[in-house]
Amino acid sequence: MAIQSVGVIGAGQMGNGIAHVFALAGYDVLMTDISAEALEKAVALIDKNLERQVSRQKITPADKAAAMGRIATTQTLADLGQCDLVIEAATEREAVKHAIFAELVPHLKPSTILTSNTSSISITRLASRTDRPEKFMGFHFMNPVPVMQLVELIRGIPTDEETYATLLEVVRKIGKTAATAEDFPAFIVNRILMPMINEAVYTLYEGVGNVESIDSAMKLGTNHPMGPLELADFIGLDTCLAIMNVLHEGLADTKYRPCPLLTKYVEAGWLGRKSGRGFYDYR
Ligand code: CAA
Repeated sequence: MAIQSVGVIGAGQMGNGIAHVFALAGYDVLMTDISAEALEKAVALIDKNLERQVSRQKITPADKAAAMGRIATTQTLADLGQCDLVIEAATEREAVKHAIFAELVPHLKPSTILTSNTSSISITRLASRTDRPEKFMGFHFMNPVPVMQLVELIRGIPTDEETYATLLEVVRKIGKTAATAEDFPAFIVNRILMPMINEAVYTLYEGVGNVESIDSAMKLGTNHPMGPLELADFIGLDTCLAIMNVLHEGLADTKYRPCPLLTKYVEAGWLGRKSGRGFYDYR
């Protein structure tokens, strides 16, 4: 199935990156959010990130202008009804995602492929609450979306082959690489990454090392671009905790128990970069 128009739900960190990448690849993008201010900020950020690519000679000023011209915004979810592909990138709370799909689905044309950028929630469960479980998939981008090469494609139990083949082709057209995962808690990337981050928080909690020594050990000792605590701040500590909880509940193994220090930071509102304070102070 040919995809030309793409609806993106959520103008946050992931949503604006996804809109950026699709517009640059030639798709018509309609981005929606309940907040007009979030939409305005997202468009300004896409402009800034495209400009960064122009200044590093990755794209031309004409590419940037064309991409900006392909992005439209709306606060009305129903406006996405005629899109060929919809990517939900709202907040990582299952009840919120179910509510969005319930509101959107009655307006969708029958052929629309529906996807979620969820980093851990069951695709089969999300799909089962829509009218098109066979046309539903996990479409998981990495942050920062314009930079990271990988997209995880997650098949729910009912996902059909045509939907999977269509999304594989879309991933190729946006210049990224797909890794296919089956629908188990946190899929591949976060199944492996989050326990490492959680272990780094335990390492801090138990006093094995301080923030700087833990991060520099992993950066310089294993060539990671960011230390695990710096990366946790970058992802958002609330997101890290939510994913650990999905792993802990979904796989029922104490090895996925979230570190009490991670829970405490989230309870304090220390969520990382986005709140100005996490393991580091950004204020
Ligand atoms: N838009 C466009 N370009 C961007 C960008 C953005 N938002 N952010 C960075 N860039 C570009 C820069 O322009 C630069 O481009 P060139 O290579 O052409 O010079 C390049 O990316 C590197 O950026 P910087 O030089 O500013 O900074 P850096 O070298 O320190 O790299 C980083 C920054 C790419 C974020 C790097 O630190 C990194 O790879 N960190 C790890 C990121 C990671 O692991 N992400 C996955 C998180 S897990 C996830 O997302 C899944 C989940 O569900 C939680």
